[in-house]
Amino acid sequence: MGSQETRPVVASRDALFQPFTVKSLSLRNRIVMSPMGQAHAVNGIPEPGYPAYFRRRAEGEVGLIVSGATAIAHPSAHMDLNEPHFHGDEPLAGWKQAVDEVHAAGGRMIPQLWHSGLHGLAYVPPTWEMHGPSGVWFPGPQADGSAGPNEVRGKPMSQADIDAVIAAFGEAAETAQRLGFDGTEIHAAHGFLIDQFFWEKTNLRSDGYGGDLRDRTRFAVEILQEVRRRVGPDFPIFMRISQFKMMDYTARLADTPQQLAAFLEPLADAGVDVFDCSLRRFQQPAFDGSHLNLAGWAKKLSGKAAMCCGGIGLGAGSVDFGDADAYKATATASLTDLDSLCEMLDRGDFDLASLARAILGDAAWPAKVRAGREHELKPFTADLMLSLS
Ligand SMILES: Cc1cc2nc3c(=O)[nH]c(=O)nc-3n(C[C@H](O)[C@H](O)[C@H](O)COP(=O)(O)O)c2cc1C
Repeated sequence: MGSQETRPVVASRDALFQPFTVKSLSLRNRIVMSPMGQAHAVNGIPEPGYPAYFRRRAEGEVGLIVSGATAIAHPSAHMDLNEPHFHGDEPLAGWKQAVDEVHAAGGRMIPQLWHSGLHGLAYVPPTWEMHGPSGVWFPGPQADGSAGPNEVRGKPMSQADIDAVIAAFGEAAETAQRLGFDGTEIHAAHGFLIDQFFWEKTNLRSDGYGGDLRDRTRFAVEILQEVRRRVGPDFPIFMRISQFKMMDYTARLADTPQQLAAFLEPLADAGVDVFDCSLRRFQQPAFDGSHLNLAGWAKKLSGKAAMCCGGIGLGAGSVDFGDADAYKATATASLTDLDSLCEMLDRGDFDLASLARAILGDAAWPAKVRAGREHELKPFTADLMLSLS
């Protein structure tokens, strides 16, 4: 771990600044930069600004950086031509430089490995063939603002397609380890390929990859088993999950703790070390009758570590991730909710707090909060999306 200047910690924020260890990964605090794909990668090659962009967050004392979604080596993994690849000499050279710079600044970093499945059919349908469990997808609003068709069809995956994607995730995880990353995250949330297998509306299969919610985890389980086989027992594996889909924010995988347990158990058994639970507001209880959010339940039910995101460090008037203008609307910096976040961490509800827009707005968010320089925090503004600042 790199050196860290010692300053008095603001008492009520202590929980954020406790170290944390999972397998071979030791973090200086509980603050994580959420994955944010920003499409600064023409033909999959990360722009030269990426390493310094991540390094600034490590210098700002972010404990763990999760890269934005990065495409595994499969022909339909990427959603558009401007998201970075996690394969090929040029993209990997960029990623290697990024992780080296983060380490030099005392930070830790993991890549978010990703296959978009049929999600590419949203907005601007790509020219290449799209894959999904059953070929069914619900594109939602189109690029021109029109409603678009309710349902479109890509290619239902054959066993050979499934095997190829599993192998590609395994290869990407092994590559992450070889490049010096501190673990890996598998993107199984937000309606992308793995989540398309989880969701009953997009997984209509009658073979062993379909069925009830537990059965629908089989694809993810086989990916996890292959990743674990390739990286060994000590390399931490994070898995991002969500109830919602980016094309349907009301969607849910589990309506009860029992259903959630049936979903999480096979994933935990197959190798997940940390469930990264994607929420739009971290305070949202997952089920009636308990204050626990999805991360709280994931930790309680699986016995694994958990983290959550959603509005941390953002003002009450800021729009939720996924609302039409979330990327365009300024999100004011606010620490009003940090007391409840710290209570949740103190109680051990979950282990890590993940921030997207707040850390895009201010790379030094952790350092400023730790030093009580909260009045200096900068807000998230849309222009930050235009460059890797
Ligand atoms: C610009 C931007 C890009 C994002 N890209 C990804 C991504 O690549 N993978 C992912 O899992 N989530 C992605 N997200 C979602 C964030 O990780 C996070 O879950 C969401 O923004 C809520 O956190 P926040 O309220 O702190 O912004 C993105 C969010 C933003 C704002």
